[in-house]
Amino acid sequence: MSAPAKLEFAKRTGMSSSTSEAFQYRQGEFSCEELTLASLAERFGTPTYVYSQAAIISNFERLRGSLARIPSLICYSVKANSNLRILSLLRQAGAGFDVVSGGELSRALRAGAAPDTIVFSGVGKTQAEIDAGLAAGILMFNVESAGELEVIESRARTLQKPARISIRVNPDVEARTHPYISTGQIIHKFGVPKDEALELYRRATHSPHLRVHGVACHIGSQILEVEPFWKALEEILSVARQLAAESIPVKLLDLGGGYGIRYADEEPLDVEGMTRGLEERLRGTSVQLILEPGRALVGNAGVLMTRVLYVKRNQRKNFVVVDAGMNDLMRPTLYGSYHEIVPALERPAEKLQADVVGPLCESGDFLAQDRDMPDVQPGDLLAVLTAGAYGFVLSSNYNTRPRPAEVLVHGGEVELIRPREKVADLMAGEKA
Ligand code: LLP
Repeated sequence: MSAPAKLEFAKRTGMSSSTSEAFQYRQGEFSCEELTLASLAERFGTPTYVYSQAAIISNFERLRGSLARIPSLICYSVKANSNLRILSLLRQAGAGFDVVSGGELSRALRAGAAPDTIVFSGVGKTQAEIDAGLAAGILMFNVESAGELEVIESRARTLQKPARISIRVNPDVEARTHPYISTGQIIHKFGVPKDEALELYRRATHSPHLRVHGVACHIGSQILEVEPFWKALEEILSVARQLAAESIPVKLLDLGGGYGIRYADEEPLDVEGMTRGLEERLRGTSVQLILEPGRALVGNAGVLMTRVLYVKRNQRKNFVVVDAGMNDLMRPTLYGSYHEIVPALERPAEKLQADVVGPLCESGDFLAQDRDMPDVQPGDLLAVLTAGAYGFVLSSNYNTRPRPAEVLVHGGEVELIRPREKVADLMAGEKA
């Protein structure tokens, strides 16, 4: 959306347009692409996650376009939203994948990913997961400890499948984001310090079962400033230079993910600015760049639609009780995250100040606190915005609540990409 259009949109709707332009009021009805939320709720019920195919593709194309002059591979971070349909959409658009478990590896392969576009990160890979990565022939393991390197070496020897590896360097960089999702400092469990990384590379080059392939890092998530990335890049580049000096050339530099988006009125990370800076800093090197964006590709491409069940008031507070709770969208409870909430039918903003709460038996079960919102009534349909990343994937069955349906909108069409769970599914395998 252009800046004036954004401003106009914000004025008209009271929304700061955190969401993709695929989600807008059209003739007073909040819509995803060409379909109104009301029609989607009628067809699929609530709560339901609604994703826009156009938004996902446009996020991907924008990033890829800005990287055009850098040899690079975008490995979508599966953890952000791992629905198979979304993975195959991104695969068709040209993405590779960043996985962190055997489960995510299976998903990427099921979505048709070429194994040599898959990187495997994570501090606690099990032997079975390492075996699965070796059997698939993935692009590389991002190794996070000396112990893991030993296990990978020994499994590669046993299975007679050489393992391509990079070491995840912990650059000791502060990413200035929520502490739970900051990962690049020495107090964090992730990666190894530079000197130890160099030692591990030296060890790895002596093994016939290991192939040194790259240098990796990932410093955190929802990062809004570009500077922490420069510090991290400098650190992994210096490792690559040192390795080259020791005749251990690397082919790939993996800068991880973490590109911050707008939830409220934050300025999102300047992706074009960052890729320009990357181009400058990588000029003269022959490495291929890997990026592992998750949120930046899917965050603003999804909303959670939910219906108001009750409105309660007491002397102190108003509560809008909706049919989605912390089990469906955990971010507000877990990180105190802000998600805009808008009514499906456009109406004047800020009539009511209320906590928007779910039906679960915990006071931590809220989607918003002390939120200025329209004067909603039971039966009203609401959209919780910017819920495409770390939404459904973090959901649980707490309180024996079936997880929401997921649907993908494409123009005037909609596809059910995961049916709502049934209570019977939740009890499957249990015995009374
Ligand atoms: N690469 C690695 C190794 C990661 O650990 C992550 C995210 C990513 C890439 C993708 O980061 P992104 O581009 O999406 O920021 N549940 C939290 C976010 C946790 C992120 C964990 N790692 C949230 O809801 O904010």
